[in-house]
Amino acid sequence: MRQIIAGNWKMYGRLADVAAYTGAIKAAPAHVSLLICPPFILLDRFATALKGSSIALGAQDCHATPDGAHTGDIAAPMLAEAGATHVILGHSERRENHGETNAVVKAKAEAAQTAGLIPIICVGEAEAERNAGEAGHVVRTQLAHSLPENFTGIVAYEPVWAIGTGRTPAEADVTAMHAEIRAALIARLGADGQSINILYGGSVKPDNAARLLALPEVGGALVGGASLKAEDLLAIAAAAPRR
Ligand code: PGA
Repeated sequence: MRQIIAGNWKMYGRLADVAAYTGAIKAAPAHVSLLICPPFILLDRFATALKGSSIALGAQDCHATPDGAHTGDIAAPMLAEAGATHVILGHSERRENHGETNAVVKAKAEAAQTAGLIPIICVGEAEAERNAGEAGHVVRTQLAHSLPENFTGIVAYEPVWAIGTGRTPAEADVTAMHAEIRAALIARLGADGQSINILYGGSVKPDNAARLLALPEVGGALVGGASLKAEDLLAIAAAAPRR
């Protein structure tokens, strides 16, 4: 399975950054699929800059309905029109800061798929949940209730305590969780569950990428902080195994 290296810019970046960044990431190695998810306001500029390249463009959220009186929200068809092919949904920062429940994430994922976008559904346990031995249960529950019935997207496993902290789980814990997620996807979707990329996210950096990306059932990375620097994202992409 070809690995996906996805950059999540979160609420960082300015229009003036786009030209140099997109110019640099076009040098990405061909054995991975590269995807950049900038803030909404930069999507159009990124789309123009990436035209003709194989780098995909994603957003970081969408509304659950295609239009309506929802001040400040962005609908999935708008993202598609702006050139996005993917959308991150249920990131732990959205779940925490905006009270997004599994049901909300599921509704957004359905809207994304209807608009022809590929949803990247984020799941992951908090530190207290891991310490209490509940990580597997938490992630299985999130998966069961956040994924639409006809899910055709990507899953990102992001332990909340590893995001932006410089800490990463033990390799055995990543392997165990990715195996759990794969089993849940197959139980839910049959053979189709086998071909879904399961990304690891949480403090992926150039110096730990090779180790994390080589683990079984890791189908790429969702990269926050390190994706802001083109050279770091390129180093992470270069570290991805050829599978
Ligand atoms: P990080 O963020 O790489 O900065 O830890 C990952 C994410 O939140 O997607």
